[in-house]
Amino acid sequence: MIRLTDKEFQDIVTYVKSNYGINLTKKRQLIESRMQAVLVSRGFTNFTDYFNLVKQNKSDEVTLMLNKLTTNHTYFYREPAHFEFMRKVFLPMQEKTNTRKVLRIWSAGCSSGEEAYTAIMTMMEYFGIKKASWDFRILATDISLKAMEAAKNGVYSEESLKELPKTWKMKYFNKQGDEYYELKDEVRNQVIFKRLNLMDPFPYQQPFDLIFCRNVMIYFDQPTKNALINKFYDALKSGGYLFIGHSETVQRDTSPFIYVEPSIYRKG
Ligand SMILES: C[S@@+](CC[C@H](N)C(=O)[O-])C[C@H]1O[C@@H](n2cnc3c(N)ncnc32)[C@H](O)[C@@H]1O
Repeated sequence: MIRLTDKEFQDIVTYVKSNYGINLTKKRQLIESRMQAVLVSRGFTNFTDYFNLVKQNKSDEVTLMLNKLTTNHTYFYREPAHFEFMRKVFLPMQEKTNTRKVLRIWSAGCSSGEEAYTAIMTMMEYFGIKKASWDFRILATDISLKAMEAAKNGVYSEESLKELPKTWKMKYFNKQGDEYYELKDEVRNQVIFKRLNLMDPFPYQQPFDLIFCRNVMIYFDQPTKNALINKFYDALKSGGYLFIGHSETVQRDTSPFIYVEPSIYRKG
């Protein structure tokens, strides 16, 4: 077993925190155990040499390491209150006020795409034949290239579709063998996937109508969360919404967002 020294541990905690916002302070054992096989497969005999590789080869090795230490777990129709809110409040309001009929939505920390695709299906169901007059593509971003490859591929297991209404499953997927479902192009083509580290400046000029950032900030400490929430505020249109995970909160005293209901916030 390759041991992780105190210095190596401190070093990687600091590096990951300052570059990715992810807090690994309580993950010492996890790092030591989960990274063993990776070190061995790369021919390393200590963590210092491996972490040097991680730091040099930023996008690939570091995301592989973060994939092992965090979770990409997600599924279709997760936390349905957000999709209900879209159907009952957000989309009716857009129909009334959005005369250009262009909707900009961002799934930030999209993992393998289930959240963004569920939002597209929600909109397709809501607009029905009227959807032809709307432009509602979704931007979906993550640091994990592996998760986004799965998202672009659009093939999902029965398990990840468990919560999705049965009629949607029949309508928007083709069955592949006994266990897998392939998303139809009409849904897949409406999501654009890009790699983005949420700690970096956002490269988007046009503001968004709605941002999902659910179950991503669980890894971040409070100052990092506050700073990110303020960046989302700046990236939204006035009247735009932020959806966060149900176990997460926006600190009301540090953020200008208006609380709407649990896990839903509005700008102005
Ligand atoms: C548990 S998944 C959440 C997926 C989906 N939003 C949901 O709620 O089901 C968390 C995702 O956040 C991504 N993530 C973590 N830190 C990130 C960062 N600094 N920048 C971008 N994505 C990050 C991870 O790669 C992972 O795919």
